Amino acid sequence: MRLVQHKQEAYWFYRFLSIFYDKLVNPLFWTVPMRDQSLDLADWSGDNLTVVDVGSGTGFTTEGIVQRVPAHRVTCMDQSPHQMQHAKKKSALQACTFTLGDAENLPFVTNQFDRYVSAGSIEYWPNPDQGIRESIRVIKPGGQALMIGPLEPQHPLGRKIANTWMLFPTEAEYRKWYEEAGFEDIQVRYIRPHWFSGSSEYGLAIVGRKPMDHHPLPEPPPIPEEQQEGPMTLARRLRLIWRVLIGSLAGFLFIPAALFGYVRAALRGQEGADLEQLNRYQIAALIAIIILIILLIRWIL
Ligand SMILES: C[S@@+](CC[C@H](N)C(=O)[O-])C[C@H]1O[C@@H](n2cnc3c(N)ncnc32)[C@H](O)[C@@H]1O
Repeated sequence: MRLVQHKQEAYWFYRFLSIFYDKLVNPLFWTVPMRDQSLDLADWSGDNLTVVDVGSGTGFTTEGIVQRVPAHRVTCMDQSPHQMQHAKKKSALQACTFTLGDAENLPFVTNQFDRYVSAGSIEYWPNPDQGIRESIRVIKPGGQALMIGPLEPQHPLGRKIANTWMLFPTEAEYRKWYEEAGFEDIQVRYIRPHWFSGSSEYGLAIVGRKPMDHHPLPEPPPIPEEQQEGPMTLARRLRLIWRVLIGSLAGFLFIPAALFGYVRAALRGQEGADLEQLNRYQIAALIAIIILIILLIRWIL
């Protein structure tokens, strides 16, 4: 179903999520250790590297990039002005360049950057293969593209909820898109937050190098008609509202799952639990969820 794997739906999803994204949501699912492990998969040696961060959002991944490359050589790009306004306020990112744009049709010339980074954005792209073709286009020959994204849950219920929300590719799909785009030296690293105890993998970072003799691929087939922007009729508007509401609801189910995962990890004294403690917003959300569950049980009984 993948209700939020569309550009307009993702726009409206982040219109509201951006308000509490940095405080409540992001630190549960995409942590500093995960960011460091992912960024370290790419090669940051070399002078004067230029970097583009695609789907840069509130700039959490960019804050890791500017620890490796001076901020004035980093370009942040996102389709959401609401997310970007938070990034623009961050002190470490003051010297970055900020551009609004679409990951599947990047507003950059061919061979512009040394590194391409995109974290947690591919799951909203209707045509992820096109986004990855764009990544190889905008980097210079010999440059690298690093993509970080979730993996499809193995548990049937988790998979059902995940796929109602957005795209959770398999590792084979990430690899196929990278290979078909023409990358070489492809490497993968699995990442997970400390609280995740699932038997399957949680997410991955994948990096590939643009060959020195890379030839642009032939133009892809046109995007199917139903995905093209049409006039905003009442029916389209209602469908958009329904998709954002139900898709968001499916996504928000992962918040209590993560919060209870945190508590379980802390009770077990699990390694990393002390490093990634819940902040006051997350504790407030946890208490509210517990109260809701108690009220629900009392109402049922
Ligand atoms: C989960 S956030 C990740 C933000 C950031 N990379 C981070 O590490 O926190 C996903 C971001 O992708 C952006 N996004 C979704 N679809 C996009 C598209 N087609 N083009 C550009 N940005 C997109 C959203 O607006 C959102 O800011």
